[in-house]
Amino acid sequence: MKWKEQILSLKPYQPGRTTAEVKKVYGLGEVVKLASNENPFGSSEKVKECIREYAESFAIYPDGYVTNLRKELADFLHLDEKQLIFGNGSDEIIMMISRAMLEPGKNTVMPTPSFPQYRHNAVVEGAEVREIELVNGAHDLDKMARAIDENTAVVWLCSPNNPTGIHITDVQLRGFLDRVPEEVLVVLDEAYYEYVTADDYYNALDIIKEYKNVIVLRTFSKVYGLASFRVGYGFADEALALQLDPVREPFNINSLAQKAAAAGLSDQSFIDQCRKANKEGLEQFYAFCRENGLDYYPSEANFILIDFKCDSNELFEYLMSKGYIVRSGAALGIPGTVRVTVGSKEQNEGVMNAMSSFLAETVKR
Ligand SMILES: Cc1ncc(COP(=O)(O)O)c(C=O)c1O
Repeated sequence: MKWKEQILSLKPYQPGRTTAEVKKVYGLGEVVKLASNENPFGSSEKVKECIREYAESFAIYPDGYVTNLRKELADFLHLDEKQLIFGNGSDEIIMMISRAMLEPGKNTVMPTPSFPQYRHNAVVEGAEVREIELVNGAHDLDKMARAIDENTAVVWLCSPNNPTGIHITDVQLRGFLDRVPEEVLVVLDEAYYEYVTADDYYNALDIIKEYKNVIVLRTFSKVYGLASFRVGYGFADEALALQLDPVREPFNINSLAQKAAAAGLSDQSFIDQCRKANKEGLEQFYAFCRENGLDYYPSEANFILIDFKCDSNELFEYLMSKGYIVRSGAALGIPGTVRVTVGSKEQNEGVMNAMSSFLAETVKR
């Protein structure tokens, strides 16, 4: 078979263990998943109502233009409908951008550690990957700008960055974009945008007006609590969004997902409550870290990366045995740490108690 050479050594995406699996393996009654930055409060009641009422024929293809959700989102963001592009999760838009722009002979610049799908898709397309190490959890924007050359097609920015939670400020972003040639696409992945509370954060809607080579990615998977429906979207200058559209699969957003996302969007009070609860949850973790002398990055997202300076896989397994699934920093490229999704107050207390027991037991050894 004539596979692309570069995919022969690529591993498929490894989803973490499900709560059902962990319950079975460890014989636990209750398991809390704090590994994928999902919303511990679920989704808006409005979504549940709209899904209950859904009675259209399942034999009909979805609306390929995503007409209603597109209109609602364009109104919400004060954008023209043509500036939007939808994906089966923002994952799919990352794939579309890579498919549209990357190929052998081109290169792409990205931070590391960051969201692994930028790299994965670039490798599939055979492009050269230029990974620039984070500095103190933040993008090294100067080094990233210097890594761009005449063969660079795409630059990826992740703000707040997964897995460190550090955001890019308005001043930093503009300083960087001013150095990027206008024929190079800059992808600004804002999967955790709705959680951000920092005053020095940029306004992405102003950014795309001023920089026609920027596309912003957001998702309904995180604060909207709709990860199972797979709806992500991008917005950019109209010409850019339209040029990307032919790469999109027809009917890529299923009918139920379109309705769920529109219902979720209509309930901004749910989003405000979740943002507030997340902020309080982060404060719980910060206090825990201070009490235990652990380093952490202050986060603008719904997760926190804590440096236990230990074998992160051992801590990961220990927490799992206590009923808490987190992400091991070893798997994220930052050994010694774990990344924990901020849960409800009780879930946070529970995982912190388990972390305390781990610390007490490792000191004893
Ligand atoms: C930074 C970032 N971008 C994109 C995604 C993909 O989100 P989705 O495909 O669910 O929209 C994630 C999910 O974890 C993420 O952390």
